[in-house]
Amino acid sequence: MPDADFDRILVTSALPYANGPVHLGQLAGAYLPADLYCRYQRLQGRDVVYICGSDEMGVAIVMRALNEDISPQAIVDKYHPMIRDTFERFGMSFDYYGRTTSDVHAETSQAFFRTLAEKEVFNLRTEEQLYDPEAEIFLADRFVQGTCPVCGFEEAYGDQCEKCGSALSPTELIDPRSTLTDATPELRETTHWYLPLGDFQPKLEEWIGTHPEWKPNVLGQVRSWFQDGLKDRAITRDVPWGVPVPADVAEAAGVDADGKVIYVWFDAPIGYISATKEWAEAQGDPDAWKRYWQDEATQLVHFIGKDNIVFHCLMFPAMLMAHGDYVLPENVPANEFLNLEGRKLSTSRGWAVWLHEYLDDFADLGGPDLLRYSLATMLPETKDADFSWNDFQARVNGELADVLGNFVHRAMTFATRYFDGEVPELAEPSDLDRDVLEQLAAFPERIGASYERYRIREAVQETMNLARLGNKYFNDAEPWHTRKSDPQAAANTIHLSLQLCASLAVLMAPILPFAAARLRQMLRLDGVRSSVPGTDDSGIGWGDAGQPLLEAGHALGDPEILFSKIDDEVIQHQMDKLQATDTTDDPQEPDTNELPYEPVKDEIVYDDFAKLDFRMGTVTVAEPVPKADKLLRVEVDLGFEERQVLAGVAQQMEPEELVGKKVVLVANLKPRTLFGLESQGMLLMAEDRDGRLTPLTADGENGAVVR
Ligand code: 2FM
Ligand code: ZN
Repeated sequence: MPDADFDRILVTSALPYANGPVHLGQLAGAYLPADLYCRYQRLQGRDVVYICGSDEMGVAIVMRALNEDISPQAIVDKYHPMIRDTFERFGMSFDYYGRTTSDVHAETSQAFFRTLAEKEVFNLRTEEQLYDPEAEIFLADRFVQGTCPVCGFEEAYGDQCEKCGSALSPTELIDPRSTLTDATPELRETTHWYLPLGDFQPKLEEWIGTHPEWKPNVLGQVRSWFQDGLKDRAITRDVPWGVPVPADVAEAAGVDADGKVIYVWFDAPIGYISATKEWAEAQGDPDAWKRYWQDEATQLVHFIGKDNIVFHCLMFPAMLMAHGDYVLPENVPANEFLNLEGRKLSTSRGWAVWLHEYLDDFADLGGPDLLRYSLATMLPETKDADFSWNDFQARVNGELADVLGNFVHRAMTFATRYFDGEVPELAEPSDLDRDVLEQLAAFPERIGASYERYRIREAVQETMNLARLGNKYFNDAEPWHTRKSDPQAAANTIHLSLQLCASLAVLMAPILPFAAARLRQMLRLDGVRSSVPGTDDSGIGWGDAGQPLLEAGHALGDPEILFSKIDDEVIQHQMDKLQATDTTDDPQEPDTNELPYEPVKDEIVYDDFAKLDFRMGTVTVAEPVPKADKLLRVEVDLGFEERQVLAGVAQQMEPEELVGKKVVLVANLKPRTLFGLESQGMLLMAEDRDGRLTPLTADGENGAVVR
């Protein structure tokens, strides 16, 4: 297990901007997986600190303020408590939830900035920048929108294109316009501090090179930034809201600091440090933060969404390297995006599910656990995923209620009815009984291994497999028959079923903390280690859950229904609600159901098919082809040789979506030359009726023949 090398774990979730409530897309990216991971680690008895807080600086806040016609301070004072409370209701188990308008944060970011300035890490540059002549202010990042020079998206922001994820600077945008006044910006002179990221590239590459275990989607993005060459990034801004550039640093540099603030992407990750300081202070051990940030035996893990990869894998690590006193992240398990009902989630278009509304609507219908579970089964871990209310219902009804809830209920009611509500004795177990005990023993480690590798979906699946095992065992053992024919056999079945329930009460706690507490109560299972902060490593922990936890003769509580089914009307109500807030005039994506299927081609004989040589391969490189806007140049490892393929998919997918993927290649297609490059094969893709492409993939080894 990777953690054996570390004494403690510091986990962070991206600090959400305090400019609106939290929605499902954010939850699935940076929050829910981190919470499951932290709760699992606490049950393991590990020393974990889980840090988050509101990102209250930056232009995102100012824009919201302009929108709501109140001050930036009023905006963050409105949304910070709302976000914090919603997270709490959802069961997020932060050790500390801070905010970046705190004094500690301003001091910490300014001190960090000062140290880097003193170490002469920064460059100062006087440059012409976009200025809004109507609003009379410099237009930094989010105040400028225009066409992305990389992918052509027309609503890219000055710091980043949300379509292709490219980091941009405002002057790179094609046809820029001010988002404040719509005016065409003009250029004026201003001086800023720059972080010369390019200088850090060799060190960053070397460091990333020590982490081949990172997720392929993360490494793919990082490598493509390296390939383009890292550029210097301005880390100050002329915006009327933010952590001020320290006056002494400005004075020493001979720059007028008036109105200049530290760029939000410089101060926000430092927010993790300042929140840890505040946590330490609240613990009554003010220096404790240093252990978590400055001791090499700390495993630092950042949970984020894919749009934050560049900041957490390159910019913040460069800052930490430059400073010198801090540990670097051990992993950054970034998630891809969550779509909603087959469409890109959009808060501005009203196509979103808000967490606080879910919690209100489902308060009496099963609460946070239902969403925690269903969302955890569909996390966008390796590619974008889709949340739909029908899937949600199917997960709740078909898995939580029918599998987990049903198993617990059968075991509990049987024990209540026929064994006086006590755990019956196990004696002379049958082969079936012994087999179930043996299988149980393997679960904690198997589920744990998935968590350790940040495969949260897999961990959830494995956890549910324990309930599946329970149901199957109960069915196969048929206690309703053996009760009369062989009472000891029935006693054994119920004894072991209750042991499985007890283990589930421990192992499901990260995913379903509220139901796990109810199950523990039902079983009167005391002394289980808690998965929330503030517990030590005593009590029944993760590893213990592979063994029977209940003594024979132990008195159980009353059976209760753990999960009720969700009615169709409830789902319909959520669908209606979504339609009612949707402001998309033209819900662009055509309804696939209405599109015609492509007719099946003329019949061929087997020999025609047998001429084709399909092989498994792994994409090692995928990159745009200069001047060919439809093509990607892809390198595929076939095991016995490397192939270069030009794939006409550049308009449908990003290169990083392909890197690391297992693909099927037509290996005996006559090579063709396009744009001066030889294409040595063809990748097989499924093309949906609306033109969406998905590469064909399978688990075979490179070079394997596909027939
Ligand atoms: O993308 C966002 O919502 C940012 N507020 C995330 C910040 S993460 C960290 F650096 F604080
Ligand atoms: Zn773009």
